Amino acid sequence: MDLTRQYVFHAPTRVLFGSGSVQATGREVAALGGTAALVVTDRGVVNAGLLDGVKASLAAADVSATAFDAVEPNPSIGTVNAALAAYQSGGCNAIVAVGGGSPMDVAKAVGILASNGGAITDYEGKPDAIRNDLPPFVCVPTTCGTGSEVTPFAVITDQDRHWKMSIASPREVPRVAIIDPDLFLKMPASLIAATGMDALTHAIESYTNQDVQPFADAFDIHAIRLIGNYLRPAVANGNREAMAHMAVAATMAGMGFSQNRLGIVHAISHPVTSYVGTPHGVANAILLPYVMEFNAIGAGSRIAEIGKALTGDHPQMAWNPSPQAGIQAVRALSRDVGIPETLGEVGVTEEHVAAIAADAMKSGNIRINPRRVTQHEIEQVIRNAINGAHADQRPIRQVNG
Ligand SMILES: [Fe+2]
Repeated sequence: MDLTRQYVFHAPTRVLFGSGSVQATGREVAALGGTAALVVTDRGVVNAGLLDGVKASLAAADVSATAFDAVEPNPSIGTVNAALAAYQSGGCNAIVAVGGGSPMDVAKAVGILASNGGAITDYEGKPDAIRNDLPPFVCVPTTCGTGSEVTPFAVITDQDRHWKMSIASPREVPRVAIIDPDLFLKMPASLIAATGMDALTHAIESYTNQDVQPFADAFDIHAIRLIGNYLRPAVANGNREAMAHMAVAATMAGMGFSQNRLGIVHAISHPVTSYVGTPHGVANAILLPYVMEFNAIGAGSRIAEIGKALTGDHPQMAWNPSPQAGIQAVRALSRDVGIPETLGEVGVTEEHVAAIAADAMKSGNIRINPRRVTQHEIEQVIRNAINGAHADQRPIRQVNG
């Protein structure tokens, strides 16, 4: 790491953590000046009864609530526009997102449009175009994975272009994140596995990319350690303590990658999801070890450290920290929590390779990947992930940096 460079660490979200903290939602909105909140969520959250505490809290603080519960996975521009219409017709002046990454991303997009006008496509790749602060904005996550409750990114799908737009601005960072582990207890095991592996991918890509910085490092490596300790028991039985630690890990990983972005796992996984519909966390988890193999010559010592963090004091790792051991540790965790081993198993075929790789090359995460990458090399990584082929089994000499 080059400490003669300049770094910015920006993590302005006020984080409330703990059992029962959802009861503070209304108070937090009111403290920001909100009196009428659009509550952005999805049917799953409503059906699980997770909205009830939020609504009661808003009412107790004299904040009126207009619910918009039609957010779908990989939310579209049309959903953003419908939610904005609900915000305007409800006379709202604040936004509360309740759910996973999708409701939080829609809430960010609504906030951008409510304060800055125009269409959401106007802001893709143009952070400076978001000139005005968003309305008071509080996030209440109900999955532990995306970290969106503390990040400056929203991902919205443009269905006409088969394209997941990334809209980034420091103004999008939520003002308050309320992380109540009680809200995670109804997550099914498959969702815990997918979102937990998404959080791991955030931490690993942030910890290994070319823009690594000391402050993000601390969040990333601790998130990796927590996920190594707690993802398996969380998936096994929804253990309360394990879920609480996973919630911490997901938010920490979000704070980490907010500083320096990600890498080619996310560059590839977004078009994979657009083309075959694989859930974001599953696509990332499948791709992660194949990308780590490709990246190992650019981030070998850090991948070795990831292995140590994931496996703790496991004697095998203590004796032999190496990039291969790091990759194996990721593969073992993924397998244990039920993630498929190949993209072939989720429907990606040779016919998709060129289009997915071409879209991946448009990602801002390409530039900072720890190893320079061409479209041809991306295609090869995708083929390895389709077929379960390991890129290179030769020893990788450990490097400093
Ligand atoms: Fe992600």
